Amino acid sequence: MILVTGGTGFIGRRIVLRLALVEGQRVRLLSRDPGRFWSEVAPSSRALREAMSASPVGLIPDPAGPGAGPKRPLPPDDALRTLREVVETVAGDVRDDPARLAEAMKGTQAVVHTVAILRETQRRTFQSVNVEGTENVVKAMQRAGLRRLVHLSALGTVNAPRYRYIYSKWLGEQAVLHGGLDHTVLKPSFIYGDSPSFLDNVVQTINMAPGVLPLPDGGRALFQPLWVEDLVTLIMLCLKDNRHVGQSYEIGGPEHWSLAEIYKLVLRVRGQRRVLVPVLRSLFLPGVVFTGLAMKNPPATPDELKQLEVDNYTDVDAVQRIFGFKPGRLEEHIDYVREIEAGWTGR
Ligand SMILES: NC(=O)c1ccc[n+]([C@@H]2O[C@H](COP(=O)([O-])OP(=O)(O)OC[C@H]3O[C@@H](n4cnc5c(N)ncnc54)[C@H](OP(=O)(O)O)[C@@H]3O)[C@@H](O)[C@H]2O)c1
Repeated sequence: MILVTGGTGFIGRRIVLRLALVEGQRVRLLSRDPGRFWSEVAPSSRALREAMSASPVGLIPDPAGPGAGPKRPLPPDDALRTLREVVETVAGDVRDDPARLAEAMKGTQAVVHTVAILRETQRRTFQSVNVEGTENVVKAMQRAGLRRLVHLSALGTVNAPRYRYIYSKWLGEQAVLHGGLDHTVLKPSFIYGDSPSFLDNVVQTINMAPGVLPLPDGGRALFQPLWVEDLVTLIMLCLKDNRHVGQSYEIGGPEHWSLAEIYKLVLRVRGQRRVLVPVLRSLFLPGVVFTGLAMKNPPATPDELKQLEVDNYTDVDAVQRIFGFKPGRLEEHIDYVREIEAGWTGR
């Protein structure tokens, strides 16, 4: 059995589905509100459909699991029944005492740790969730006698407190690197393929700017978007192959995309038109602060604006070199952005 922390999240949910439906594993997912998993995995969901069309990498079969293999002909209702049989949910907070988290790890063989917050709230800080939460997971594993950990970090993590999110991810990484476990750290650029994710913020910005769309520093910042199902495949390969133990990998899709190119692509796919205008990044700050005050989910935060200074790409052949397969191109998997309805979500 494999424990997925954050198994209700954008990425965690896909990991749970793949492990259970394609790799034949039993899965325990931990999050604060794990029941969300069942409400979000509808028979018609993109996540379920895409998970079921993936090929197994061939993890060591779980003796009490449902058996491995592509479940392509499996009707979605049967897939849901399988999930009910092999997926356990546990309510837990990574800010809990490690002894309590260790309880949730009993009977599992490996942990995939995806929990992190990408934005802070008053009650949930980067320090408490991304740093101390990861430290707690490492301590809980030590306590439970568990060794194998695949940790989801991020590209561009840096030992520089002025970048609050990527600094917190850097500190979380340090806990994993020095935790004495059989770890693999994956550091991807932004992930896309479902909502909510980075591209929802792009759509939201487009919808807030009818006519003219200002881009910070002309949208020069570079990214290397990776399709969520390709990331899940990499996680499966890490769990399968011990050669990945002790490694930390920077990963991304097969192309570099500037922010401006990403905006143009999303506009084209959605059939929208905007005039893109370069604006100095420093001039964005007041607007970003204002929308942060006025909106519950603003398209960007001051921290994210500042982070544009830090590279978010690596070698275009990184995945091919390390894992032996070529990840999908952004244009192949981006149709879903047509369906994103992101508008003005005032407080
Ligand atoms: N999305 C990207 O583009 C991207 C890019 C690079 C790296 N990453 C990394 O990938 C990981 C997953 O990201 P994501 O986009 O899937 O995030 P997400 O959709 O926000 O999911 C986060 C998950 O963590 C859970 N969670 C949050 N706070 C928790 C807490 N205190 N205790 C227990 N569970 C908690 C959430 O469920 P509840 O809120 O119900 O507890 C949810 O299941 C993160 O580590 C992120 O840094 C993401």
